[in-house]
Amino acid sequence: MVARARCSFCGRDESEVDHLFAGPGGVAICPDCVALAADVAGPTMRPSGGDLVLTGISELVTNDPRFPGRLGLVEEAAVAITGGLIDWVGSGSPPSRYGDLPELQCEGRAVIPGFVDPHTHLVFAGDRSAEYEMRAAGASYQDLRRAGGGIASTVAATRSASPAELLESALDRVGSMLEHGTTTVEVKSGYGLDTRTEVVLLEVGRQIGESLPVDVVTTFLGAHSVPPEFADDRRRYVELVETSMIPACAGLASYCDVFCDEGAFTVDESEQILRAGMTAGLKPRIHANQLADSGGADLAARLGAVSADHLEHVTREQARGLREAGVAAVLLPTASWGTRSPAAPARMLWDERVTVALGTDCNPGTSYVLSMQLVLAVAVADAGLALERALWSATRGGALALEEDDKGLVAPGAIADLVVLEADSYRHLGYRPDQNLAAVVIKDGDPVG
Ligand code: NIG
Ligand code: FE
Repeated sequence: MVARARCSFCGRDESEVDHLFAGPGGVAICPDCVALAADVAGPTMRPSGGDLVLTGISELVTNDPRFPGRLGLVEEAAVAITGGLIDWVGSGSPPSRYGDLPELQCEGRAVIPGFVDPHTHLVFAGDRSAEYEMRAAGASYQDLRRAGGGIASTVAATRSASPAELLESALDRVGSMLEHGTTTVEVKSGYGLDTRTEVVLLEVGRQIGESLPVDVVTTFLGAHSVPPEFADDRRRYVELVETSMIPACAGLASYCDVFCDEGAFTVDESEQILRAGMTAGLKPRIHANQLADSGGADLAARLGAVSADHLEHVTREQARGLREAGVAAVLLPTASWGTRSPAAPARMLWDERVTVALGTDCNPGTSYVLSMQLVLAVAVADAGLALERALWSATRGGALALEEDDKGLVAPGAIADLVVLEADSYRHLGYRPDQNLAAVVIKDGDPVG
């Protein structure tokens, strides 16, 4: 007879509990004992109401230029948080005035700002794993689009899903992002391509932020693709975006994006839509130069867009244009895997002093990725970004690309979004690319995961 696994604490076997978590050395624990242990451990892991002191930090990444290096490192650090904002940062013990706050003893682990993911399409239904497999076997992204797959196939699945189904799957994705240390995420519409469904996608995006301790920034992307019913009259679709979708979506989003590329929207169409968005109060961002030198990066500079995203095919001259116009470059290195194209020239953009940010591009076609830790590792391995630049881009860069100046930074007055790593140095990011190194995630000063 095979012995049943038991909870090492209450002794109940696996048939008597919901499930058992396996620990080191053959130890197991059931969910009831996990809850009891959290109670016994006291305030350490409980929501603190936005007041918290972190002590025993081996290495703190602040991104604050007042501290040394690109990452503003502080060794043997502590952080005091009040009302969800950073109040004090320094070496050694925090001042005695914080003595009454709940304490999270980090026990020699490193702490970084929460990841800011500035580019996702994470509200969708359907599955395109078969397409991904075909691409690995040689089919191009454009071949599959012409064969009726690509964005159109996700649009069909998304239109037939209910808002509740879309929310449920999106919450699963964002829950996992949070577990991996993402505390702010941008969410685009773009798989509805009719007014009703685009509105639903943005509403779902906003509900995510109300349901989970993650800040959500929404972007309208009605110009993601011309839907099949307008294939013979794309002018009418551009008109629909301008006259129906933008007015309906303007109150639900902060930004308007367009996919300005081969097989998507031309520079003229993109400009027309982005200008209509600007008139309605939506600031522009652009999917630019992903599949070809599409003119998107030049348009981003000309319009003074908030960001130009992807940029696999950007030139040095275009990079200079982006920098002069103050446009952030949002790079999505795992999407380059998906399209099987070389990574964007991250190092060149950085050297040209463009603000570089990294994002997952979470979407079912080119990058079904949730972890900014993986994105950072790929940016280092494939796009040639030095690790400290990649970490800055995944935190502070993302915040700047979303115009959230008080994030991605550990300095007095900044929002207290932090990640305690399961490592004593940030250098383990990238180095251990398949392991989730987020031990504790803190949002607005509360430990949330
Ligand atoms: O960012 N470039 C356009 N949009 C997505 C892909 C969307 C899809 O294939 O469903 C991207 O890569
Ligand atoms: Fe994208």
